[in-house]
Amino acid sequence: MAQETPIVYLNGEFLPLDRAKVSVLDRGFLFGDGVYEVIPVYGGRPFRLEEHLERLNNSLRGIRMESPLTTEEWKPILARLICGDQDQSIYLQVTRGAAPKRDHAFPEGAAPTVFVMCSPIAPIPAEGVRAITLDDIRWQWCHIKAITLLANVLLRQLAVDRGCAEAILVREGFAVEGAASNLFAVVDGVLLTPPKGHAILPGITRDLVLELALTNDIPAAERDITLEELQRAGEVWLTSSTREILPVIELDGQPVGVGKPGPIWRQMNAIYQAYKQQLRQGL
Ligand code: PDD
Repeated sequence: MAQETPIVYLNGEFLPLDRAKVSVLDRGFLFGDGVYEVIPVYGGRPFRLEEHLERLNNSLRGIRMESPLTTEEWKPILARLICGDQDQSIYLQVTRGAAPKRDHAFPEGAAPTVFVMCSPIAPIPAEGVRAITLDDIRWQWCHIKAITLLANVLLRQLAVDRGCAEAILVREGFAVEGAASNLFAVVDGVLLTPPKGHAILPGITRDLVLELALTNDIPAAERDITLEELQRAGEVWLTSSTREILPVIELDGQPVGVGKPGPIWRQMNAIYQAYKQQLRQGL
């Protein structure tokens, strides 16, 4: 059976994906001048929507743009794009819009371009993945979820070229996060994740994992992780909206722990899956 073309939202209109078009003068296209969000949806319910929209607003403020829509205006748009009960993710992008000519400085009076689409989420590989460490070549404002992702794209591709699922980025001797994920490591029995700041994206999944650790008596701390600690960690995980909590079983060709997803990951993943299930059921 032919696949139906998904419906997307573009600048006030709902239309089939293949009819959604933006100007070649859009600053997102010319400069990567915009921000985005990825919001998981379980059982038809967006996950931590308020937190995602708050981060979107922080990103917009970070690039000196106003929010084009309020939370109450976003909600019905997202609701209309969600299809069925299967796990999916909402991709939402706001750019500084199209200007009459290409000029680096902000154009006056350009209307932002607002685009939203929904896609299925693939189940995560529970057997674990391989990762490599790479120098963090990104910019200084990684807390902004900018669409300008060339460094992330190149880093992720280097990982894929070496048969790995993710690149773990190292800045001045500290492992900060993945090319598109946050980082956790179990070091001396404590679950560590780097603190929020300009070196990482404040991940929504990261915050939930920390909350779940606290409520389930799993010792956890937000502190810098040295490369040496990462290399001797008993467990390494990557978290993101689309990959949930992904265990890393091999780092730079060496096994992490015994080379299998560890006991703390199994415990946390079970807690996380139960949490998702409650959300699906509207509890
Ligand atoms: N990326 N760090 C970076 C650099 C990211 O791009 C992401 C997510 C995260 C995890 O954040 P969250 O838990 O809120 O998804 C951390 C999304 C999924 C993407 O770019 O597709």
